[in-house]
Amino acid sequence: MSLLSVRNLVIDYARTRALDGADLEVARGEKVGLVGESGSGKSTLGSAVGRLLPGAARHSGGEVLLAGEPVFGLPPARLRALRRRQLGYVFQDPIGSLDPTMRVGAQLRLVLGRGGDVHFHLGRVKLDDPRVVRAYPHQLSGGMAQRVAIAIAMATAPELLVADEPTAALDSQVREEVSDMVFALAAEAGTSILWLSHDLPAVARRCDRVAVMYGGRVVESGPAREVLGDPAHPYTAALAGSAPAAAAHGVRLEPVPGRPPVLTGPSPGCAFAPRCAFAERRCEHERPAPVRIRAQDVLCHRAAELQDRLTALSEVKA
Ligand SMILES: Nc1ncnc2c1ncn2[C@@H]1O[C@H](COP(=O)(O)OP(=O)(O)OP(=O)(O)O)[C@@H](O)[C@H]1O
Ligand SMILES: [Mg+2]
Repeated sequence: MSLLSVRNLVIDYARTRALDGADLEVARGEKVGLVGESGSGKSTLGSAVGRLLPGAARHSGGEVLLAGEPVFGLPPARLRALRRRQLGYVFQDPIGSLDPTMRVGAQLRLVLGRGGDVHFHLGRVKLDDPRVVRAYPHQLSGGMAQRVAIAIAMATAPELLVADEPTAALDSQVREEVSDMVFALAAEAGTSILWLSHDLPAVARRCDRVAVMYGGRVVESGPAREVLGDPAHPYTAALAGSAPAAAAHGVRLEPVPGRPPVLTGPSPGCAFAPRCAFAERRCEHERPAPVRIRAQDVLCHRAAELQDRLTALSEVKA
């Protein structure tokens, strides 16, 4: 059984449809990357896993099963217990995700409970300086604050860590260090990782599997190297083809010509059709159902017939 199963999840923010039937599986101990352009729904999906969506969000359909428990069907007390036992979160803005009014040591102690060893947990993220325990978040650098956030998220050895671009706001020198730390601590604790990122090469390097989002759906998923190295969805091919150069400079380029959609309801067909070089008429009005191409699950009407052409494209770019 999967640790996490997201099935046909639909989430709306007022008139914006952020998730339009998203499917995702994460197995125990697995490291899964979640990629896609800005606005594709990564953060909404990541937050939905713990039902930590902003107040404006509405759950309009589908379900999230975490360790077999229906996250959107649980009463508040059971939801809190599930979050405490099974989930850890790390976000992009480390200082903003800590409580500005509490010293670092006190925040960690709150998670660990009485008898918890604050120094041990800070030592694991290489914050051995005793002054850190007494510091307030604003007195720390971004990199230090993110390590504190990681120590807090991993203190309870959760089953799943959701990391929403945890290194995007950090200097490039500390980025690798912080990523290394997350993956090492998770490996040690047997924690699965859902890693939301724009850095495709890093995802290919670090993750077992990757899920590619477009227009609020996961349009391709499978082994990370296969999906990013030999894509089966035209969108992944476009994204992966232009990503390495952009990612190397840490910038967010618009990798595919045209703009991603902002949906106000269910997409009538494939949301990528207007930008897709291979789109046919049915792509505009028929929602694609998942097909299996090699090791990948793909939402594309033409995936089977396009296989060889996309492979040839990715060989040119490699
Ligand atoms: N709090 C909110 N209120 C209204 N709309 C929102 C809110 N958060 C996200 N959205 C909308 O939902 C859609 C999905 O956004 P989301 O933040 O999940 O994307 P993302 O893939 O995480 O993007 P990024 O790469 O920029 O972080 C977008 O259209 C976005 O504008
Ligand atoms: Mg986001």
